[in-house]
Amino acid sequence: MSMSEAKKKTGGLAGVVAGESAICTCGLGNGLNYYGYAIEDLANHAEFEEIAFLLQYAQLPNSKELEEYKNKIIAQRELSENLKTILKAIPKETHPMNLMQTAVAALGALEAEKEDFSNQDEKIIRLLGILPSVLCYWHHFVHFGKEIDFNSNQKSIAGYFLEKLQEQDPKEDFIKAMQCSLILYAEHEFNASTFTARTCASTKSDIFSAVAAAIGALRGPLHGGANEAAMGLIESFSSVEEAIEGVNRKLENKELLMGFGHRVYGLGGDPRNALIKVWSKHLGGETLIFKVSEAIENLMKEKKPNLPPNADFYSASAYHFMGIPTAYFTPIFIMSRVSGWCAHIKEQRANNKLIRPSSEYIGPSPRKFIKIQDR
Ligand code: COA
Repeated sequence: MSMSEAKKKTGGLAGVVAGESAICTCGLGNGLNYYGYAIEDLANHAEFEEIAFLLQYAQLPNSKELEEYKNKIIAQRELSENLKTILKAIPKETHPMNLMQTAVAALGALEAEKEDFSNQDEKIIRLLGILPSVLCYWHHFVHFGKEIDFNSNQKSIAGYFLEKLQEQDPKEDFIKAMQCSLILYAEHEFNASTFTARTCASTKSDIFSAVAAAIGALRGPLHGGANEAAMGLIESFSSVEEAIEGVNRKLENKELLMGFGHRVYGLGGDPRNALIKVWSKHLGGETLIFKVSEAIENLMKEKKPNLPPNADFYSASAYHFMGIPTAYFTPIFIMSRVSGWCAHIKEQRANNKLIRPSSEYIGPSPRKFIKIQDR
């Protein structure tokens, strides 16, 4: 194989096995599994906290363990006064992903993890509990000048987030759809943000730094930001005909269609897509948004069968039908994926080796330095 062929093959580290993990398989012929459990079973029969527990402790909880775990998460919903002061200073024009990243970095400063990581499990539960509060507190403060409290009868992260964002009891269907979405987004092997978290953790940094770094990687539209970008695509069309014409034009111009394609899944596609599509259809099957989405999906199936929709495509419309502002789609991804990131941080720490690959040098040959006055 020539050097350029080798480069093409490993561009973006595609196909490179970068380490061992017992947490998740994706695209290995049997779809997506968390600790050996099929995503279909998890999404259809579990609630998100069961999955968070599974990722944190490598086993499913029984009913008593789940209840205790949920109570611990509920007890971590409050924001400290110092954190509130920081959030209030972040302007409403800020991208909510930067807001979330700032909040996690601030937690590292205000509620530091112990240097020996002996309280890492407590910090994971703190993150699970507080992240929905962070977004909702900031949302109501910067848009309406209102400081919300964190009291709620909702026992789940899904229900709590919806209640606090919308200040009303969430519909049961919305909670179930949100549970499904959080489960689908929880973990995905060595994706860009998780690998970022592991790389940061491998330097023996603290958990908040690793999660803040991961949020930075998740923000981009090639990764987590794709759900927001997919909504932008779908909403840009005012009819099915316009969507077909517009997508054809984009394909001719070789533009990226957000919410399609995946680095790891082959032609079989992303198994999460069918699961979240059920909810999108249930919540908004009769709407133009859903009809446009399906028309785009069908057209892509015909024109680009090697680019099936990924989890982000129908997550976008499902969130939209729940009344969630588009800018908050990717922050919801954080509330879920934090469970996967932290599972990987724990796994990395348990058998740590600094992640530090090498690059192939393609720069100039050694040359003589010329002092500034002679240049
Ligand atoms: N729309 C249109 N064309 C796409 C595409 C998309 N969503 N995804 C990939 N392609 C094209 C590429 O342009 C490339 O074409 P080329 O061979 O003519 O240059 C070819 O398919 C191979 O894609 P490549 O970019 O090498 O794949 P990748 O593994 O590096 O990228 C993604 C994977 C996910 C980044 C890519 O599919 C993408 O950008 N998708 C849209 C963003 C998205 O939905 N991200 C969420 C992922 S869960």
